Amino acid sequence: MEPPDIRSKAAPKALAGADGLRPDLRASRIGSTPIATSSRSSRSASFAGPGWLYVCLDAEIANPGDFKRSRLGTREVVAVRDPSGEVNVLLNRCAHRSAQFCSATRGTAKEFVCPYHQWTYDLGGKLLGVPFRRGYHGQGGMPADFRLDEHGLQRLAVTRRHGVVFASFSKDTEPLERYLGETMLGYFDRVFDGRELVVLGYLRQRIPSNWKLMFENIKDPYHASLLHVFLVTFGLFRLDQKSAIEMDTTGRHAVLVSRRGEQQENDATRQMRAFKANFTLRDPRLLEPLREYAGDATVVMQTLWPNLIVQQQSNTLATRQIVPIDPGNFDLAWTFFGYAEDTPDMRQRRLRQANLMGPAGLVSLDDSEAMLLSQAGIDSNEAAECIAEMGGGAIHDESHMVTETAIRGFYQHYRHIMGL
Ligand code: FES
Ligand SMILES: [Fe+2]
Repeated sequence: MEPPDIRSKAAPKALAGADGLRPDLRASRIGSTPIATSSRSSRSASFAGPGWLYVCLDAEIANPGDFKRSRLGTREVVAVRDPSGEVNVLLNRCAHRSAQFCSATRGTAKEFVCPYHQWTYDLGGKLLGVPFRRGYHGQGGMPADFRLDEHGLQRLAVTRRHGVVFASFSKDTEPLERYLGETMLGYFDRVFDGRELVVLGYLRQRIPSNWKLMFENIKDPYHASLLHVFLVTFGLFRLDQKSAIEMDTTGRHAVLVSRRGEQQENDATRQMRAFKANFTLRDPRLLEPLREYAGDATVVMQTLWPNLIVQQQSNTLATRQIVPIDPGNFDLAWTFFGYAEDTPDMRQRRLRQANLMGPAGLVSLDDSEAMLLSQAGIDSNEAAECIAEMGGGAIHDESHMVTETAIRGFYQHYRHIMGL
């Protein structure tokens, strides 16, 4: 069934725990239960359905045989470049008795050999050989009608755009361009504009909260001006700055866009306890941005359902992959990148600014802490409901940050996926 359009006049159904609300508020009350109790089936519904899941960058598996192991929702996959240059995404599950045949995070292989009974597959997942297939001295072995070509690895549908690899468990997923929609595709292509990408480094952290709280956090401009001393004080992202929130027609994808401001007191910063007029940087090079894209936005954070955040903050670029582990934990896997054509100076700049991000990032460590606190409050009060009513109860694009509209859009889509 097609996801509902956020512009439709029909009032969205209430989430659990929000019965009896005025129709105009139904998108904005979120029961703790759907947020926190992400059962195995809910993770599988979100990730195994007809959607494009971020897997890796082309640059990570640049040469034939290069592979990267990844986890999409509850299932592990291996993305591998085959001798023809194509990228295959294979389920990391041996066709014999289900062993995960690949345990290296990254590497280069000519074929995959399952360690358990050494069934061997080519890089397209085709079964090449089964030890003792004909038995030994006429005894045992596989049945005469056992056919290798009927027992390959499961292959996912794959699509690539401008150096980014996506996969889907469903054969019926619409083309990526339509899945993202025109507006989101425009923002995606702003960073992934076809130039060759290079990987600058990785960070990985486990955050003790439900995976959806990560999406809430990045779709939530309201907190940025209040929680983050660093962002607010140095004007990287603040609600008195020119900004916008845009979504696709389903609300499942969004961008927060803003333009950098100054470290100066005004009537907005006076309401922000996080603003510290007397804080200075010992080394201002940490933040010095260099304009590199058309337009005046200096930060664009894009959230793509169900597992990708594309980060552009000043000159630091990264994909952040959301990997749910269990209802109360997810991994956030950061891949920092630049362009092959970057000057050494730009590469250094990207790396310096990456200090804002990651588990110990000057900005993002606050977010991890906030998610931990939210999860703790949700876990201990399961019947309670959360309020996401900044900017009203409706779901639509905005040209300011005093709103939770993108969170409402996200949960509307989640309800649709879950049939809630
Ligand atoms: S489980 Fe892989 S070869 Fe047996
Ligand atoms: Fe934040």
